[in-house]
Amino acid sequence: MEANLVKPATGKLGVLCVGLGAVSTTFIAGTLMCRKGMGLPGGSITQMARIRVGRGDKKTYKRVGEIVPLADLKDFEIGAWDIFTDNAYQSAMHAEVLKPCHIEPVRDELEKIVPMKAAFDPEYVSRLHGENVKQANTRWELVEQLRDDIRTFKKEHGCERVVVIWAASTEKYIPYNEQVHKNLSDLEAAMRSDDRANISPSMCYAYAAIAEGAPFVMGAPNLCIDIPAMWEFADKQNVPLAGKDFKTGQTLMKTVLAPMLHTRCLGLSGWFSTNILGNRDGEVLDAPENFKTKEVSKLSVIDTILDKNEQPELYSDIYHKVRINYYPPRGDNKEGWDNLDIFGWMGPDYGMQIKIDFLCRDSILAAPLMLDLVLCADLAARAGWKGIQTWMSFYLKSPMHDYVKGIEPVHDLFQQFAMFKNAIRVMGGYEADQELD
Ligand SMILES: NC(=O)c1ccc[n+]([C@@H]2O[C@H](COP(=O)([O-])OP(=O)(O)OC[C@H]3O[C@@H](n4cnc5c(N)ncnc54)[C@H](O)[C@@H]3O)[C@@H](O)[C@H]2O)c1
Repeated sequence: MEANLVKPATGKLGVLCVGLGAVSTTFIAGTLMCRKGMGLPGGSITQMARIRVGRGDKKTYKRVGEIVPLADLKDFEIGAWDIFTDNAYQSAMHAEVLKPCHIEPVRDELEKIVPMKAAFDPEYVSRLHGENVKQANTRWELVEQLRDDIRTFKKEHGCERVVVIWAASTEKYIPYNEQVHKNLSDLEAAMRSDDRANISPSMCYAYAAIAEGAPFVMGAPNLCIDIPAMWEFADKQNVPLAGKDFKTGQTLMKTVLAPMLHTRCLGLSGWFSTNILGNRDGEVLDAPENFKTKEVSKLSVIDTILDKNEQPELYSDIYHKVRINYYPPRGDNKEGWDNLDIFGWMGPDYGMQIKIDFLCRDSILAAPLMLDLVLCADLAARAGWKGIQTWMSFYLKSPMHDYVKGIEPVHDLFQQFAMFKNAIRVMGGYEADQELD
């Protein structure tokens, strides 16, 4: 990391959300409440954390916004795309995450956020049927329409910069295909020839954002920007990327507990995780092809922390299972159960169990991550940092990493936080001072 001069956050920042469902509306309404001074931005590092800068006698703790020039929430201009026509107020009420007392004070502003027509393909999300959808002959035409949306939004709202963030439904699983996803020229050719099997709608949004110079953040586990062709494009356009999949509930717990086991040299023979949730996300994830995308994301997290090559006696035989069950009565209030079978002194003959029952609120946990990811992506762009932003892994379940070069992702929350703090320090003109080991 090299010290950078970060351009100041002047003018308006356009925040374009793909998907105007539970997570997006909780983020939007909460952010509008916060900027009126009427809400607590709990869970947001950019708004609440203090980070140490300097050492010894020169040591001080500062808010992130005092170290680096973050965009002011007052300068946000928020827009969205969705397959449903409900405005942000209607959608927030429908989601039933926030209480009316956290929605009504910003009703006027929410009602003005009317979703643009979505780039949607029912092949990728079979459980949803909406009318607010773009018509196009090819994926390339979809990209052109999305680019036009971004330009028009920017102009109409007088934005200096735009960040695009995906908080739409998880798409069905598609594997990485070297013939299409490796090189930018192949990706573009596949878009032009309307290769629908390999080009998902989310790739169209990402391509459009990058083409317009807007940082793109992937909040779901979709393949999307996790391919070398997108990195090549981001590099060419000087655009930062971050993804994938907001790290909110169960996986957040995993990346805290697994380092504890590793640090204490405790073994693991099994980790069973199951969830019940009843929101629209739960309904989409009930479809096996969509769950597969999520499963891959959720399963990968402990592999690099509990490394079977480094500690074969402790971690070579882990049975790791993740389930998500759609259960309508719970709505957005997800319950995540975990059972860990662990062992230590004298091995598995003296097994022990850890049980976790996390009664969480999905969107309440995800909203502050959306805010931080938007602010950090914009900050990175102004710092001139392009491509995969590994320092933003802190917020993500499946952190993007250059797998072509054999780089391993960092999942351990504390290592991720060290990376995050160092990035902020460097951008603020301070020294990065924590070794990752
Ligand atoms: N804690 C969390 O809530 C959490 C954590 C990690 C990831 N996520 C992911 O965030 C995403 C949003 O979650 P949610 O609870 O808000 O879901 P949601 O179903 O309430 O909202 C998603 C919205 O996206 C819209 N949509 C679907 N495909 C679209 C497309 N191609 N273009 C535009 N809009 C589209 C849907 O109509 C819906 O309104 C999901 O992919 C979810 O898996 C959520």
